[in-house]
Amino acid sequence: MTSNNPDLFLSLSAIWVLVFASLILSVVAVVSVARARRERGSRKASARPEQESNAEGRSLLREFEKNGQSADAALVNWTPETLRKILTEDLPDAQVIIVSNREPYIHNLKEDDGNAEAAEVELVVPASGLVSALEPITRACGGTWIAYGGGTADRLTVDAHDRVQVPPDSPSYTLRRVWLTPEEHEGYYLGFANEGLWPLCHIAFTRPVFRASDWELYEEVNRKFADTVVKEARNERPIVLVQDYHFALLPRMIRERLPEAIVITFWHIPWPNSEVFSICPWREKILDGLLGSSIIGFHTQFHCNNFIESVDRFLESRIEREDAAISYGGQTSLVHAYPISIEWPPVLLQGLPSVAACRSKVREKYGLAENVKLCVGVERLDYTKGIIDRFRALEQLFEMHPEWIGRLTFLQVAAPSRGTLPAYRQLHAECLRYAEDINRRFGRDGYSPVLMVAEHHSQRQVYEIYRAADLCMVTSLHDGMNLVAKEFVAARDDEQGVLLLSIFAGASKELLEALIVNPYDAASMADALLQALTMQSDEQRSRMRRMREIVRDNNVYRWAGSMLLDAARLRKRGEMDRATGGNGPPPGGNNVVNMFRHGRVAAL
Ligand code: F6P
Repeated sequence: MTSNNPDLFLSLSAIWVLVFASLILSVVAVVSVARARRERGSRKASARPEQESNAEGRSLLREFEKNGQSADAALVNWTPETLRKILTEDLPDAQVIIVSNREPYIHNLKEDDGNAEAAEVELVVPASGLVSALEPITRACGGTWIAYGGGTADRLTVDAHDRVQVPPDSPSYTLRRVWLTPEEHEGYYLGFANEGLWPLCHIAFTRPVFRASDWELYEEVNRKFADTVVKEARNERPIVLVQDYHFALLPRMIRERLPEAIVITFWHIPWPNSEVFSICPWREKILDGLLGSSIIGFHTQFHCNNFIESVDRFLESRIEREDAAISYGGQTSLVHAYPISIEWPPVLLQGLPSVAACRSKVREKYGLAENVKLCVGVERLDYTKGIIDRFRALEQLFEMHPEWIGRLTFLQVAAPSRGTLPAYRQLHAECLRYAEDINRRFGRDGYSPVLMVAEHHSQRQVYEIYRAADLCMVTSLHDGMNLVAKEFVAARDDEQGVLLLSIFAGASKELLEALIVNPYDAASMADALLQALTMQSDEQRSRMRRMREIVRDNNVYRWAGSMLLDAARLRKRGEMDRATGGNGPPPGGNNVVNMFRHGRVAAL
């Protein structure tokens, strides 16, 4: 609960000094890049019409408004090199360790015929927003990525320490696999994470299931990962990037064993309001576990606020709202919004055929006539993604505008996911039934309005589909960010194509030029479909161009870089704190390090 602090005046002054010092630090960290960019900008600006410089002003303003991010970061040209620079200059000697459930590269036996030695091994990059975002970051920073080894050939491809160097074609970091028993996988991943926390955090009206046996395994597996982090750490002070709802207890476990580590936890899915969160029987333990982090990140400020409210309601803590800091159990964690993104320029585009070639290839594959527009949906087969709602909108469009029957095909690519859980099996069956129904009603010989392809596709295949599409529908009922929206934009270097985007996906706070839709409102989604189908090429271009600028400037290097800069600030403050004995103001200096007088920032 928020408490009254008798030293409020001192604390507030300290906070202001800290804010000021942070700004200076951040400007120093980025100044050279910013200067280069400004110079580039001013050279360009002198040749630009007034309209364009207004647009630039608006874009900077937008940076100020968006998720409380600082405008300094917007001035940086975020690249892998920027990240490396932050690591070498601001966090020298820091070992980066990433922890996630899903691994970036899965080795599978091609023919699981029981004869493992004879079978060929294939490499799969999983359908996961987390993986597409984190992989380029880890490639840039190096380090170790710890994840569950779930592939059928994963054990065959590691060394004696369960490590494998990846990416396989040009290794730049270590993948350290952790093995789980079938019981652990079932209780921790399928059970607590995906039948409990997943529906708890998403407003999709699927009831969460909480079982004590799942919770025990969740705790056990979090401990197993904590042991692995400690084993992989080269010294006492690594930077550990903990990913997602599979590891709510891990930050505290790491903190207990590596008190000097910086633990940055990123929660990739929404955080519910405190009333919904109260359903979870282990709510206090989850909050306690997360507050072992130095920094806790969410995609949007809204989810940060929900998290802070949950802590306020269920734990004895002190909350500095101005500073987004929570002091609890003698330590302080910062809670910030860091909107995740994708790499820019997208490496995948380099090896792809032209848009025209992708169009012909995909249209030929699915037997689409020349006059048929192609609308696509790409995701894991998950009930939060609003696939059924998309079908409803399509049905409404055909009912209200029958002239589109025969002239529009909707291709749904859905990677099978969590397929042993009842909610996912039901969804799969329902999607197939609904697609058949629409095809029966509106299809005819040689024309199917809906193509439902529930198969894994490689990233390359997915990008080809994006490039071939006239429209892309992202209609999540609730989503932390949704990287499909950003990938579609990245794939369209021809500046064509229309994006329909759910207002309930974090991406809608950034991609304002998409057609923003409410997936629960089939009639208005059908209207948006019609608007997209009839949108002129010029309008498509200006919308797409703007969205591409946004994704370029807010790429995944910025996401990771902002977290690393914040980590560097914490570490510097910690060093100052140590130099001054940790209590009281530094001799004759500002009271920056003492911002949290009643508790040390976690990881200092
Ligand atoms: O959206 C949450 C998330 O964990 C992502 O971070 C990831 O892309 C996706 O779910 C993958 O789910 P799974 O690993 O269960 O297939």
